[in-house]
Amino acid sequence: MLRVATFVVLGFATCVLAVTYPNLQPGAQIKLSTSSLQYSGQQVQVSWSGVYNPTINDAILLQIPASESLLTVFPVRYRWVGQSSNYQSGAGTFTFKVLNERAPAIFLYARNVTVGTNGTIEWDESDDVTGFQDTDIVAASPVLPLAAPNEPTHVHMSYTDTEGEVLMQWITRDIGEPTVQWGLRPGNYSQEEVGTYSTYLRSDMCGAPANTTGYLFPGIMNNALMAGLPPSTRIWYRVGDPEFQFSPEYSMLTPPRVGPNSEVYFIAWADSGQATDDGTNEWDWADSNPLVTAPYGTRAQKNATLIDVWQQDEAQQGSSLDLTRRVTMDVNTGRNVTLFIFNGDISYARGSVGQWDTFGDQYQPIFTQAPVMMIPGNHERDWPDTGDRFYPLVDAKDSGGECGVAYGKRFIFPQPSFDEQWYAFEHGPITFLQLSTEQPFGAGSPQWIWVVNTLQKIDRARTPWVIVGIHRPIYTSSIYGNSFKSDVNVAEDLRNSLEEVFYQYQVDMTWAGHVHLYERTCPVLKRTCLGYNATDGTANAPVHVDMGNGGFEFTWFANPTPPPYWDSNYMAHGYNRVYANGTYIHMQSVESDTGRIIDEFSLVKPVGWKPNYKGRLNQLMYFFSNYTEQTWYEKGINSDALWVTPIFLPATEIFDANPQIVDILSLSNTTLLQNINAADSVVDLAQIFQAYQAAFNNPAFYTTTPQPGVASTYLKEALQPLLQLFIDNAARAQADPSFDPATFVATKNAGAPAASRG
Ligand SMILES: [Fe+2]
Repeated sequence: MLRVATFVVLGFATCVLAVTYPNLQPGAQIKLSTSSLQYSGQQVQVSWSGVYNPTINDAILLQIPASESLLTVFPVRYRWVGQSSNYQSGAGTFTFKVLNERAPAIFLYARNVTVGTNGTIEWDESDDVTGFQDTDIVAASPVLPLAAPNEPTHVHMSYTDTEGEVLMQWITRDIGEPTVQWGLRPGNYSQEEVGTYSTYLRSDMCGAPANTTGYLFPGIMNNALMAGLPPSTRIWYRVGDPEFQFSPEYSMLTPPRVGPNSEVYFIAWADSGQATDDGTNEWDWADSNPLVTAPYGTRAQKNATLIDVWQQDEAQQGSSLDLTRRVTMDVNTGRNVTLFIFNGDISYARGSVGQWDTFGDQYQPIFTQAPVMMIPGNHERDWPDTGDRFYPLVDAKDSGGECGVAYGKRFIFPQPSFDEQWYAFEHGPITFLQLSTEQPFGAGSPQWIWVVNTLQKIDRARTPWVIVGIHRPIYTSSIYGNSFKSDVNVAEDLRNSLEEVFYQYQVDMTWAGHVHLYERTCPVLKRTCLGYNATDGTANAPVHVDMGNGGFEFTWFANPTPPPYWDSNYMAHGYNRVYANGTYIHMQSVESDTGRIIDEFSLVKPVGWKPNYKGRLNQLMYFFSNYTEQTWYEKGINSDALWVTPIFLPATEIFDANPQIVDILSLSNTTLLQNINAADSVVDLAQIFQAYQAAFNNPAFYTTTPQPGVASTYLKEALQPLLQLFIDNAARAQADPSFDPATFVATKNAGAPAASRG
């Protein structure tokens, strides 16, 4: 058995500190209520005394690892000394919840800490981090070693793409033999499976603070598979290592069988983040801090009675504590929850391993009871020149240098590859597509092709419902819209790339986040409410829900008068309870701190419902035929519906009319150009549109033509004959309900003369 100690910690309690604090005051001391941390989350009493000349800007810091200088690793938590309930000049007491962060801890008294200009300790703007210096430390506690370094922490699980499988995941300090044991009775483990492990290093991070002051060793990320689980059965399990330590025993309900006769109950949200639970019943901004004069929703001031090290984050994400508390209540009060959906902006750690640890501790009570299926948000993925969709037009730094690696290592999903962060899975009567809006999703991109292929293959007799997860919303009432990465622009990109695909393949809903509020559209296509079918009650288009109200500070720049395609808009923190069977989905949006239901709605399908993708395609074409020429031009560049069904045209038809296509293809798809030049007589319109889109998005396209207007003319002229074909199709579809556009085109193209060029 392979056993590798990643840290040698023996004797830490007595050894000399690796960090030298030059200004320690004689007589100043910090005492702890325990000589070692017995378990993660232990409450440790910290008492200090004998400090001369204390100031209002003094703070008690929790530093992990104890051996690291404050200059190289930020403290994981702090509290201002004045927050102590028994504060006297130079003395006081706090109780800290200390997590197992895989290294010994130390408490430090920092004097006259300098804070940012707005009175906060900033995390993600390093120029404001002037607070903590080794020279500020006037007292240090004994080092607090870990009594149980390999206690499993961050316990959570996910579904794979195979029915009856659950992948357990947890963190330890050292490499061991990751083991899950389970059985049908408490304490009786008839099954055991050994898995694998991984981790990430400072050098795996893409930038600061993830590879600077935010990094501490994140631990060994273990996983082990429970396969062949019986459906809808309560099991008892534990994870860990036979030689290190096992977790406590947990129990969970295995998922029901996949199929239309199955029913499921689950919970969904996005954008919640993490915060340190200070032990009060409920986090509430106004109650917690009478000293604060700032309005609700702005940053915490330094005198706030909040204890997280990043006080602004505590203020911004405090409502996440309400979410985890109420979801815990839901799960523990008899609701048979078998799934959590968490659609991006997970921890807002943004490069701080310490905040991921807070997250792991906060969510473990629910994530040990059912699998959680996530997608990356901007705060997990975005970093310049690492594959996000915004570079090079915009430098998006929202991940704090994590660039999707911390997320990808911590949570395993059935993705095509590590950095292709999208996947599908089935749950009861639903197929979920979980997408990454932080990576390219435009027409022809690997993700876009995967979406179309996956939607085409879903057996709707098996899973009548299809729900798509996207971090950024495809419809939003946000009016933030002045850059390539802003809400309005990305929503428009999503509609241009995917709305018609979702419509044609009868996606029932999209569930997004990112914009921090709750809102829900009518069944909508191209900003037009299409309502419900009068005969069977089914929705005539996808419904789009933004559940970005999970816990982070609200988005206040929403349109005060939202367009009419909104059925519901709320500014309240919460999550969604979902019940689904083969003919019915019911959703409740719950306000976390009160339990109030702020929105409730249902979708239905008749028994034996069958999709009608061709009918939807005809509808799309009819819809487009009413567009003006200008709109047609825009559609031609951006529309994917135009090439969802492969349509072939003689190459000569395009080239004879549009010699400029050589310029376009030489920039975007030289292979296609060569194929056509090699006398391949027929071209797939899909490839042409794809090449045009690539050209349109290629900055070189604009620099190699005199001006953007000229480039646009190229495209317009080249697309004109192709668009006419679709107008013809639409007219036929309107006149003949049984019309099949693919057959029509095939017939039209049959006998087309072989063309050659060159
Ligand atoms: Fe976001």
